[in-house]
Amino acid sequence: MRTPLVAGNWKMNKTAAQARQLVQEMLPGLQAVTTVERVICPPFPAIWAVSELLQGTGIGLGAQNLYWEASGAFTGEVSPGMVKEFCQYVILGHSERRAYFGETDVTVNRKVKAALANELIPIVCVGETLTENEAGQTAAVIERQLRLGLQELSPEQGQKLVIAYEPVWAIGTGRAASGTGANAVVADCIRPTLASLFGEAVAQSIRILYGGSVTAANAAEFFSQPEIDGALVGGASLKPAEFVPITQAAAR
Ligand code: PGA
Repeated sequence: MRTPLVAGNWKMNKTAAQARQLVQEMLPGLQAVTTVERVICPPFPAIWAVSELLQGTGIGLGAQNLYWEASGAFTGEVSPGMVKEFCQYVILGHSERRAYFGETDVTVNRKVKAALANELIPIVCVGETLTENEAGQTAAVIERQLRLGLQELSPEQGQKLVIAYEPVWAIGTGRAASGTGANAVVADCIRPTLASLFGEAVAQSIRILYGGSVTAANAAEFFSQPEIDGALVGGASLKPAEFVPITQAAAR
């Protein structure tokens, strides 16, 4: 059985002071949902403040990115070791990083390896754009992202991954995929590709999340799908009245 996982991707929102306040508002509700792995991914400057509040709560902390080198002259970057000091998870290969910051399957692969080497759990994002979707390229794009992004990982490393299927056209648009549509992409493309990379048993053990306009209103539609093991939540993760019920829906 795969333990459901719900992660909140705060993106570039909330100062440290605002983050502290938001976590305090959500914490009692999140703590009550014990059968779901719950993770908050604030921006870097808020990580320390949030980590103090999450101590001993059972709620995980994640970063939204990292650089693969351990240290050195890489102005503006954050190393895996710096992330590991506070976090257990790291989102990698998010479509916004691919679209705006030049991230490629090759750089995602370096980051995934660096995260694993530092005992961080990578939440690796894959998904097709609207144009790719309409051209019938969804499976080919996702398979490429997985094969290159997860290149040269052993089955033991593969077992530690979390994958997020995030169709780019569904992110921040209010136009979520359908539960059955997202399930079909996971069942027909993502899990079979993971099986060919790591073997069937490992593929069956990897959590695959859906992300893209998940709300309290539509979360249950995704969590009732057999192949979807949780959600990567953007906008709704900034609202306690949305994020807490999403975690509750994952528990059912
Ligand atoms: P959204 O973002 O929930 O605001 O669509 C999801 C994500 O980008 O991870």
